[in-house]
Amino acid sequence: MENFVFQNPTKIIFGKGTESAVGKELKAHTNKVLLHYGGGSIKKTGLYDRICASLKEAGVAWTELPGVQPNPRLSLVRKGIEICRQEQIDFILAVGGGSVIDSAKAIALGVVDDGDVWDFYMKKRTPTKALPVGVVLTIPAAGSEASNSSVVTSEDGWYKRYVDAEVLRPKFSILNPELTLTLTVEQTMIGIADMTAHIIERYFTQVPNVELTDRLIEGTFKTLIRNAHILYKEPHNYAARSEIMWSGTVAHNDWLSTGRIGDWGSHMIEHELSGIYDIPHGAGLAIIIPAWMQYVYKANVAKFAQFGNRIFDVEANFGSPEETALEAIRRLKSFYQSIGLPVSLSTVNIPGDRLAEMAAKCVENGPVGNFLKLYKEDVQKILQLAL
Ligand code: NZQ
Ligand code: ZN
Repeated sequence: MENFVFQNPTKIIFGKGTESAVGKELKAHTNKVLLHYGGGSIKKTGLYDRICASLKEAGVAWTELPGVQPNPRLSLVRKGIEICRQEQIDFILAVGGGSVIDSAKAIALGVVDDGDVWDFYMKKRTPTKALPVGVVLTIPAAGSEASNSSVVTSEDGWYKRYVDAEVLRPKFSILNPELTLTLTVEQTMIGIADMTAHIIERYFTQVPNVELTDRLIEGTFKTLIRNAHILYKEPHNYAARSEIMWSGTVAHNDWLSTGRIGDWGSHMIEHELSGIYDIPHGAGLAIIIPAWMQYVYKANVAKFAQFGNRIFDVEANFGSPEETALEAIRRLKSFYQSIGLPVSLSTVNIPGDRLAEMAAKCVENGPVGNFLKLYKEDVQKILQLAL
């Protein structure tokens, strides 16, 4: 196990009706917030009215900035920064999914900084301060509700880039599984794909002696598989919605990273896909992860065999470790397919004509991945395998 420091200060408020506490939670920090949300789902579902009622009751004033798109854009972040400065807003409330939360985090960074906020995403500077952010989560997927990162797309060159900083962890996140009942089955499964990717990125480490976190990840993965199958048939099952929502946070709040060095190559490759083609991040991962696995498994066959035995129940006498590893990859792919996810680029109409460009962009700041370091030609081969 590696040395580690673990500190996740995000207060989680979980369960039915919990969004009604948002005003009270905010009042402990501020009297005025930027209410940031997406393309309108919160108005259709009635959540917007409940949030406004809670803010009014607590005496918290607000200014609104709607319009966050999936794969959130830098131009709206810049607008949010301006609004907060003009109106002297010192707290941002994100009501939505990963895109809204990440846009809120980017605004939070920009308001207190004198330079260009995009510098942080291009790794030209490291952030040390940000306005506080609070969250009402409406789609379990990205894990941004308790993560230290924000992912934003710049329209200038369609660069999708991330920044990590402890100051980005939200002050509180309200997780009511009832709010996820309005998601389509497709959106739900895409979110689950992202959660599986977050634990796969952590599971495939070359660090030895990480038994506890291996077992925690395996348990989380099995919970995701079982409840994904339930929700695929019964999208209104509250118990399964609850398991999935909490798993999404646990998958990415860094509890499962303790003592390990995660990989993250697949995420870096996927960000090129959703940056250029604007596909949902989770769908891109369901395509990239199996291709990545096929490309890298020889770097630690035993770990892949363990993944197969423990998560996909590949029988101990199935065959050699290599055969077990390959069977594990096959079973992961068929799990994704069984819940309606795409597992190839052609399924989402992405042609093979820009693979070299994506591979070059992906490694602009050096190789990606830790399980196996990936250079431009490796990334291009993985994209090729994903076709
Ligand atoms: O915009 P609205 O109208 O609200 O609709 C949204 C959006 O179209 C809809 N939706 C959300 N909640 C709903 C709902 N529709 C009906 N009922 C509800 N309750 O869902 C659509 C997708 O929302 P989005 O926020 O884009 O989804 P997700 O949470 O998957 O976030 C994806 C973004 O997060 C980034 C991804 O790269 C992507 O940009 N990630 C952020 C991470 C982080 N900050 O830690 C880590 C992840 O690896 C990921 O990269
Ligand atoms: Zn992700």
